[in-house]
Amino acid sequence: MSDLIEPSSDPLDALRGAAVAAIPIELAGQRVLELGIGAGATTRRLIAAHPKAEVVGLDSSGAMVFAARELGIEVQLARMEDPLPDGPWDLVIAVLAVQCLDQTQIKALIRRVRGHSRALVIGDRFDDGEQSVSLSAAALARSCDGALDWRDGSLAVVSATY
Ligand SMILES: C[S@@+](CC[C@H](N)C(=O)[O-])C[C@H]1O[C@@H](n2cnc3c(N)ncnc32)[C@H](O)[C@@H]1O
Repeated sequence: MSDLIEPSSDPLDALRGAAVAAIPIELAGQRVLELGIGAGATTRRLIAAHPKAEVVGLDSSGAMVFAARELGIEVQLARMEDPLPDGPWDLVIAVLAVQCLDQTQIKALIRRVRGHSRALVIGDRFDDGEQSVSLSAAALARSCDGALDWRDGSLAVVSATY
């Protein structure tokens, strides 16, 4: 993780840092789409680690879109279930976002990403009841032909390259 981001004992910040560390490709001048960008807590880490990446975010919440635009990047009001914004993308990343989708929607999203991006990183909470991804981290890794990169209890990061 970049020195520009303060280390944190917050497990969700550790997850965000692990997701950025798991990015499997070089991002200088490359196009990144972040799904469920929220207020940009992961984005700040990504930009600090990859300052030359061209990051576009999307979120289904207008309030979050406005908040993330404070980072000075393009952020679209859109849903992960809908067609991805025009690519192609070098990386699609989603942290604490796919937990908002059901299993069928996650698998459909993975198929869409595969057709439009060179790499995928998903960091989320798994196997932990209500606010968690509806399939295991291992099953998600299998679904996207990827690998489990990091795990801390119910939090995990999966990445894939295509
Ligand atoms: C827990 S926040 C995570 C935000 C950020 N990725 C982070 O690391 O902190 C989940 C975000 O996903 C957004 N979201 C939920 N369902 C969504 C959907 N179907 N399509 C796009 N964004 C969605 C929410 O509005 C929220 O901003």
